[in-house]
Amino acid sequence: LRHLLTLEGLPARILTQILDTAESFVSVGEREIKKVPLLRGKAVFNLFFENSTRTRTTFEIAAKRLSADVINLNIATSATNKGETLLDTVANLSAMQADMFVVRHASSGAPHLIARHVAPHISVVNAGDGRCAHPTQGLLDMYTIRHYKGGFHNLRVAIVGDVLHSRVARSQIHALSILGCPEIRVVAPKTLLPRDVESMGVHVHHKMETGVKDCDVIIMLRLQNERMQGALLPSAGEYYKFWGLTEDKLKLARPDAIVMHPGPMNRGVEIDSGVADGKHSVILPQVTFGIAVRMAVMSMVTGSNA
Ligand code: CP
Repeated sequence: LRHLLTLEGLPARILTQILDTAESFVSVGEREIKKVPLLRGKAVFNLFFENSTRTRTTFEIAAKRLSADVINLNIATSATNKGETLLDTVANLSAMQADMFVVRHASSGAPHLIARHVAPHISVVNAGDGRCAHPTQGLLDMYTIRHYKGGFHNLRVAIVGDVLHSRVARSQIHALSILGCPEIRVVAPKTLLPRDVESMGVHVHHKMETGVKDCDVIIMLRLQNERMQGALLPSAGEYYKFWGLTEDKLKLARPDAIVMHPGPMNRGVEIDSGVADGKHSVILPQVTFGIAVRMAVMSMVTGSNA
C-alpha cells in the first residue's frame, strides 16, 4: 500500500490490517508510551487546500507520534496565491525531500493527480477530495464501529443526510461493504442522494422514521451548503424538522445504538444538541481514534509496518 487514495476496491484484508495496526497504536501518546520511531527521519507535508480542524490536526499529531518531521503548508500564505500550479507546488516540496504528502483539496481527484507525478519513494494520503473520498475518515469510522459493536456482520447501519455531497458517506459505504456489513441504509430526501445511489449496494429510505428504525449505528452527515452552488437550499429549521436526529427519532433505533458524526456538526440542523452530547453519542471518541488510525495508515504507506 504505497498511497491511500480511496477505499474502493481495497481487499478486506488490508482494511482489517489497518484497523488492527491502529489498535496497537491507541496507547501511543499516553504517559507510558509517548512516541514510536517508525517514521523517524521522514518528512510529512500536510497540504490542506480546504479548511479542516479534525483531519489536519490528527494527521499532525499522528505523524509526530511516529517521530516524523511534520510541515504544515499554510495555503493562504503560499505561492498558490501567485498562480503556482498544484503540481509545481508539489514538485518544489518534493525538492525539499518530502516523503509523504497528506492532501485535502476541493477538486475530486487532486490527490490521485499528485500520486501520478511524485517520485517512487513518496507516498500520498488522501485527506478528503471534493465529493469523491475521505478514506481515513471512513477507516476511523470503521474502527469506531468495530470498537463499540465488535464487528460488522450483524449490523444495520443508517447514513443520514446530505449523501450527495459527502465524500465521507462514499468512503463509509465502500468500507462497510468490504467489511461485510449486511444492511447499509442511506436516509435522505431524493435531492440529497446521488443519481446512482441504487448501484451503491445500499437500501434507500426517504423517511427518517423508517430509515433509523432498529438500527445499531446511526451516522449523521452535515448539510454541505458550500457545495450546493445554485441549488435550492432548505432552511435550517425545515431540514431539522424532517431530517434532524432528535431524542424522539433516536428512540426508534436499537436501545444500544451508537450515534456518529464526522464533524463539523451543525447543532439544531442535522442533530439535536441533546443527542450530540448524549449517552449514545461516540462523536468525540471518533476523533480520538482518528489519531491511531492515521498513525496506522502513515506507517503502512511508508512501508515501516507493511
Ligand atoms: N471530518 C472531517 O473531515 O473534519 P475536518 O473537516 O475538521 O477535517
